[in-house]
Amino acid sequence: MNRREFATRSVAAAAGAALFPRPAYSAGPGSAMQVPGAQSESLTSAARFPDGFLWGTATASYQNEGAWKEDGKGESIWDRFVHTPGKVRGAVTGDVACDQYHLYAQDIAMAKRLNQRSQRFSISWPRIQPTGVGAPNMKGLDHYSRFVDTLLASGIRPWCTMYHWDLPQALEDRGGWPNRDLANYFADYAGILAKHLGDRITVWAPFNMPWAIAFMGYAAGAAPPCRTSFGDFLKAAHTLGLAQGQAHRAVKAASSKATVGSAYEMAPAYPRTDSDDDRAAAARYHAMNNVFFLEAAMKGRYPRAFVGEPPLEQMGFRPGDEKLLYAPLDWIGFHYYTRRVVSDASKEQFLGGGIFSGTEIESNSPGGRDPYTRFRAAMPTEGPLTDAGLEVWPRGIYDLVMQISKEYNHPIIEITESGCGYLDSPDEHDRVPDARRIQWYRDVLAELSRAIADGARVRAYHAWTLLDNFQWAEGYTERYGLIYTDFRSQKRTVKDSGLWYGRVAASNRLNV
Ligand code: FCB
Repeated sequence: MNRREFATRSVAAAAGAALFPRPAYSAGPGSAMQVPGAQSESLTSAARFPDGFLWGTATASYQNEGAWKEDGKGESIWDRFVHTPGKVRGAVTGDVACDQYHLYAQDIAMAKRLNQRSQRFSISWPRIQPTGVGAPNMKGLDHYSRFVDTLLASGIRPWCTMYHWDLPQALEDRGGWPNRDLANYFADYAGILAKHLGDRITVWAPFNMPWAIAFMGYAAGAAPPCRTSFGDFLKAAHTLGLAQGQAHRAVKAASSKATVGSAYEMAPAYPRTDSDDDRAAAARYHAMNNVFFLEAAMKGRYPRAFVGEPPLEQMGFRPGDEKLLYAPLDWIGFHYYTRRVVSDASKEQFLGGGIFSGTEIESNSPGGRDPYTRFRAAMPTEGPLTDAGLEVWPRGIYDLVMQISKEYNHPIIEITESGCGYLDSPDEHDRVPDARRIQWYRDVLAELSRAIADGARVRAYHAWTLLDNFQWAEGYTERYGLIYTDFRSQKRTVKDSGLWYGRVAASNRLNV
């Protein structure tokens, strides 16, 4: 089931739910009732962002670069996936994508014209080490070196994600993330990056969305390598936790200027009802999906994500691993797209399986999503849905930022991704009037400015994404860009939202 089918089914489910009393989550934990789409104009016009606030966009290697076998690059698990019939909507691939491997200078020039000051991008591991181990491929390093130089020459901060899902296929052939050895291979790779690029890149994150890497790839089978084993999921999660800590140390050892943070997926979790069971289930969601790897880095242990004792043995946890996990972040980075409403499933019989659609949404069979966390996490449809099927819920970013600020003692925060998929395309005047995207950003950013006014130390916001790109298993059917990409001609057209976001970046205000 893909995101859109999921959304349709959710609407049907919501219609059914209307037979029952209004659930408690409408008000959210400790928050006022929100009427979707009716955010006060005064909040938006009053919104101000601090001087020096870093406006940026986020991108990922596989979604943008193309050039899938150029300059010595090895095959990645995404190359293998897209070349397997039936995997990607429309039978398309990222072989070319936005051809950014060749067109990066022009894209960076566009970002500069939109007054961007930070560019989150990822490095493709198989460009650097084609089989995931061994000596670096200098052509790959040279490419990113030029890329980083071009950003710096444009006054844009290079922000590097070391891994945004494109694992070298050769490492999957050695067992993939459930194989603990990958933590050390990844640390070697991280060290190579910091050694060669750490004189210019100072902002690093090991993984984009580590929970999704483990769950989508190894439990839900929705992303490569498409395994459906909960045991593999647990092992993969622990290897990623270890790799995060090891990479952190490797980067710091190779570059004295390095700061290391994160790019976690997060969604504020609201209990479906006020019952203790649903509250506990929402807390498990938060522990598993939001802060599992954050807690590992900050405290050297995993949070209470599980019903009962943590399955440490199944995770392959060894004595002393606490020390390897522990690598306190210099700042905390996370995404915001939408929220979740969570209910308890621990008292039902677990019937196995969980359905995962796209990159964001999970639904569940009876008994919960998996045998360990035992909750059901739903995306409600009280707010409108984007064309990509995610509920619009601006208030969620306020709740999430405030919660993380409180739980982690007011850390520096970067929003690493945040955005919406709408399909608007150029009109006869070559304009893309994507008013819904502007509205989405206005409302979300107004809530973010409120969090800053209330004391959260947010220093950067990265819109997802600079230009429409390859949207994983959804192919080219979802458009998240501030710039429209014509994938046939590679022509770029700045959308109205891009022009608007450029003015926001120049003024630190939203009514522009
Ligand atoms: C996030 C991914 C990103 C992009 C957006 C829409 O989950 O990190 O690569 O696909 O979703």
